Amino acid sequence: ASSDHLRHVESMATLPSGAGRIPRLNAVILGDSLASEEDDLVYPSEGFSEQALVSSPEQYLKMYKRSIEDPAGFWSEIASEFFWKTKWGEEVVTENLDVRKGTIKIEWFKGATTNICYNALDRNIEAGNGGKVAIYWEGNEPGHDGQLTYSELLEKVCQLSNYLKDIGIKKGDAVVIYLPMLMELPIAMLACARIGAVHSVVFAGFSAESLAQRIIDCRPKAVLTCNAVLRGTKAIHLKDIVDDALVESAKNGFSVGVCLTYENPLAMKREMTKWQDGRDIWWQDVVPTYSTTCEVEWVDAEDPLFLLYTSGSTGKPKGVLHTTGGYMIYTAMTFKYAFDYKPSDVYWCTADCGWITGHSYVTYGPLLNGATVVVFEGVPNYPDSGRCWDIVDKFKVTIFYTAPTLVRSLMRDGDENVTRYSRKSLRILGSVGEPINPSAWRWFFNVVGDSRCPISDTWWQTETGGFLITPLPGAWPQKPGSATFPFFGVQPVIVDEKGNEIAGECSGYLCIKKSWPGAFRTLYGDHERYETTYFKPFAGYYFSGDGCSRDKDGYHWLTGRVDDVINVSGHRIGTAEVESALVSHPQCAEAAVVGVEHEVKGQGIYAFVTLVDGVPYSQELRKSLVQAVRNQIGAFAAPDKIHWAPGLPKTRSGKIMRRILRKIASKQLDELGDTSTLADPSVVDQLIALSDC
Ligand code: PRX
Repeated sequence: ASSDHLRHVESMATLPSGAGRIPRLNAVILGDSLASEEDDLVYPSEGFSEQALVSSPEQYLKMYKRSIEDPAGFWSEIASEFFWKTKWGEEVVTENLDVRKGTIKIEWFKGATTNICYNALDRNIEAGNGGKVAIYWEGNEPGHDGQLTYSELLEKVCQLSNYLKDIGIKKGDAVVIYLPMLMELPIAMLACARIGAVHSVVFAGFSAESLAQRIIDCRPKAVLTCNAVLRGTKAIHLKDIVDDALVESAKNGFSVGVCLTYENPLAMKREMTKWQDGRDIWWQDVVPTYSTTCEVEWVDAEDPLFLLYTSGSTGKPKGVLHTTGGYMIYTAMTFKYAFDYKPSDVYWCTADCGWITGHSYVTYGPLLNGATVVVFEGVPNYPDSGRCWDIVDKFKVTIFYTAPTLVRSLMRDGDENVTRYSRKSLRILGSVGEPINPSAWRWFFNVVGDSRCPISDTWWQTETGGFLITPLPGAWPQKPGSATFPFFGVQPVIVDEKGNEIAGECSGYLCIKKSWPGAFRTLYGDHERYETTYFKPFAGYYFSGDGCSRDKDGYHWLTGRVDDVINVSGHRIGTAEVESALVSHPQCAEAAVVGVEHEVKGQGIYAFVTLVDGVPYSQELRKSLVQAVRNQIGAFAAPDKIHWAPGLPKTRSGKIMRRILRKIASKQLDELGDTSTLADPSVVDQLIALSDC
């Protein structure tokens, strides 16, 4: 077992009980110097720990130890809380995480059969919760809303499942979902799961090119979309984007037979929507005509549930594949414990279902627990920056889960937008997507949570399916900016460059020993890339791609990506993807992209661009380069800065030295380091000279 971790938690277990000790943190921004605030422990408030599912370090430790010493027993017990058509055998988990011992393989509960939609809906309804609200939906326009109880949600899901079956979709077939945050998005995911189809949700902010790339890769039998969506004051014509993607995909030899389109009348009338008869079908014309009951397709625990494409360090997005059984119990349990879930909670996660957070913690985790979930179509600053708290008060939200970028942008807009709302229903806050800097943490804690709501800063990834390192809010004191300790069954280790585990207080690369039920099983169609990216860098471990340090008390501090992936507003973007979009521009000869610190977004995208010989610099060209990225990837990946580069700093073997580019981008010119190994050291001076051009 991860003895270092246990030792730390054991020593923490001897801390005097903290309940009631709430240091009222200084609401004035103190700055992010960790050193001076090292000992800032924020204890759960009086009463919170007493009612919590895990109320002390000792209790956590007992459960954690059991989960490490007897993972099969620990997870079997949890799995037994769910419905299985047929049970698993002796072998609960089969795994090999060591490339030296052969193919990487992770299997949990193989041979057992279940259905995640059944467990999320039918099981909760059978338990008497059919009348409980499953989804509160809030539209882009205040006052435009809706809701579905568990029974109503099941009916909608069944109708869509029946339709999908009727058009020939079977177990194992892929379905691409390109929808905004309408109730139809979780409905579509659940409808696929019910019939064993594999959904691949594509975030509706991705461009036609990106959508096409994903369609070509997973070859869906149908695409589910809507004609348009309102985001703030803007209407986005999603169907046009889908049309372009389908043309692109057909050019590449793959034609999609059905494009089921939901009419979103507030955003766009039916008559205005471009249409291809035969392929395009209005959702509202067909789906409601189907039966509201639908038999469940029982699937193996290791049958695929979904594919979700994410960015890596090369240009091609990776299809992360999650299977059914392990993912189901892992998302359910992490949700329950990290948010100390109670049946009376109203839970709101601001993430879009197009990202993993929306899969695990808008749809599956909460619904598996029978929770009431808020789904919000709009944007947090429309009609003004108070919108989130307006929604919190309206639905009496008790658990609010968001990303640090939103916290920072609301913080910048002033406390007034927050304090004019009551927020008294809130009891737990959550953060995800990037490290939360201590000053944003404090503001979130003091201003949004009135210094009484613990913050669950959950560290995890598309690949991990669910939280790996997260506070259990009643169990131990928090440190602003630290994701604290591992979830049950998770063994994090910090390794040095050579892959040696480092003990005690240290910094290094974050790896995980042993599998956990929610882990991804492969990259779709490319198991070799799966092994190379995640298991070869440090043999014997899953490598996260993140840096991490552990302090003297054993708390984990995530320090960001150590590979060529940047994290912009919690969105993961590969620098290579942006570079390839830039060089697709006819006037761009070469591009190198780095992340720079950004006050609100966490990281901003900074692009060095070398133009084709003879092309002059101009503002128009800058704009059209940014547009190229919008077209190829999506608006969220648009570079913040284009820096003209007559040449790029390269080694003699032609490798771009990004370290130098990062220093130039962040104006740390006295830290450029040794430039003598460059093929042409003079390019550095040229770049510096063009900094403000
Ligand atoms: O760098 C880490 C950061 O987000 C990456 C994963 O991105 P993605 O797969 O898109 O999933 C985002 C939602 C889980 C990680 O490698 N990250 C995520 N959560 C945190 C975080 N970094 C620090 N603290 C977090 N709580």
